[in-house]
Amino acid sequence: MTTPTTIVIFGGSGDLARRKLVPGLFSLYQKGRLPENARIVGYSRSEMTHTAYQEFMRGYAEQFAKTWNAAQWAEFEPKLSYVSGVFDDDAAFSRLKTHVLDGDDNLGDCLYYMSIAPRFFTSVAQQLHEHGMVQKSDAGFKRVIVEKPFGHDLASAQQLNRDLHSYLDEDQIYRIDHYLAKETVQNLMVFRFANTIFEPLWNRNFIDHVQITAAESVDVGSRAGYYDSAGVLRDMFQNHLMQLLALTAMEPPASFSADAVRNEKAKVLQSLRPMIPSRLGTQTVRAQYEGYLDADGVPAGSQTPTYAALKVYIDNWRWKDVPFYLRSGKALKTKATEIIIQFKKPPHMMFPLSKDYVISSNFLAICIQPHEGIHLRFEAKVPDTDSDMESVLMDFHYSDEFGEIIMPQAYEKLLLEALEGDATLFTRSDGIEAAWTFMDDVIKGFETDYAPRMTSYKPGSWGPDAADELLGRSRRKWRHGCAEHE
Ligand code: BG6
Repeated sequence: MTTPTTIVIFGGSGDLARRKLVPGLFSLYQKGRLPENARIVGYSRSEMTHTAYQEFMRGYAEQFAKTWNAAQWAEFEPKLSYVSGVFDDDAAFSRLKTHVLDGDDNLGDCLYYMSIAPRFFTSVAQQLHEHGMVQKSDAGFKRVIVEKPFGHDLASAQQLNRDLHSYLDEDQIYRIDHYLAKETVQNLMVFRFANTIFEPLWNRNFIDHVQITAAESVDVGSRAGYYDSAGVLRDMFQNHLMQLLALTAMEPPASFSADAVRNEKAKVLQSLRPMIPSRLGTQTVRAQYEGYLDADGVPAGSQTPTYAALKVYIDNWRWKDVPFYLRSGKALKTKATEIIIQFKKPPHMMFPLSKDYVISSNFLAICIQPHEGIHLRFEAKVPDTDSDMESVLMDFHYSDEFGEIIMPQAYEKLLLEALEGDATLFTRSDGIEAAWTFMDDVIKGFETDYAPRMTSYKPGSWGPDAADELLGRSRRKWRHGCAEHE
């Protein structure tokens, strides 16, 4: 007999479960990657029978599964069941335990997914602990996936870590950052450390600066209630942009193990030069898109930024004095996440160039989404001229190279990794606290007189002029390196 595996989704009828988690588990089933005897238990407040839950989920799976197949769903559906309860309800947790035990003496392998409001994280961990559902034993693993946001600032993240650690060991906690599960983000490590040609150049001797952009064309839509209390710094920078920065800047890990990788990432975040108040005016930009204040749920006069740009430094041997420019915003021109590595200009030009010819320096664009790929720009001689040059492109597109691969949805990957006990794609307590330590100075600084002026930008633009000035002051420009046929 193999150990049974139960996946309990707290917030089992919620938006994430409907759009991502259950479709992701279904996809794992279709690929034969879900443990054979896996069961999925939805746990939420609303009353529902097992059958009603299965039907409810079927409707969403049809819509959100990457590859819908009715016959396979019919095989998968019996794995779904449902327990109703709130998150601090003793009796409901007893019912949940009886349901998971299913007449057996031990719980087997259990993965608990907290797809719930952060204020319930600790009560769920406590209930699981008190009901003996997370105790380590030889009779199967017990792991907990914690959704974002992980804390609202440094103090609350530290408190949450302390609270969770009273019921769970660090190696049982899987903190989600879905950017880490994107294929192109995982490829960053392969690109850097499975090739020899880039790594020798990957430092302050050859790189002028780095740009990390996570632009979104959507506005806050119906999420204003949440968004206004978070703003772009908590919603995108503290997690996703900090992770992209860490993967771009880290030293080669000793191995591909979760701890080795996370040690190196944490070191980068701990080396970020603190954003002291007097630097805010010249190194940060904050803005709101025009119309944000009229969106449903946004309080009058809100000062929440929907766009920010930061110039940050990593104080270590590799990166000392190389600026990393980060920007992200809602309601921008297009959806594009990309990392630009801008190399230095050649030290000397012996070609007879015309006075107004501006030599472009090489840059590498790592296209995270949506046009997944990598582009390298370099100078080439224009044929039939003496020495005219043009900047040309060498590019790699996932779609050309790997054909019509359906990129796995990030949550599918994360669920699989957590089931397999690989925490590489999840954040560790020290990494998350280091990211908060840096971001707290910016977030709190934005509430003081040192904050840069709040500017506005037109929806559908590339953001405020102030962001161009941030680079312009050092005679640099934001690059768009990843358009489809750039
Ligand atoms: C989430 C943010 O973490 O990431 C959202 O809360 C944002 O506001 C989303 O839209 C972006 O994710 P992706 O994968 O679409 O780039």
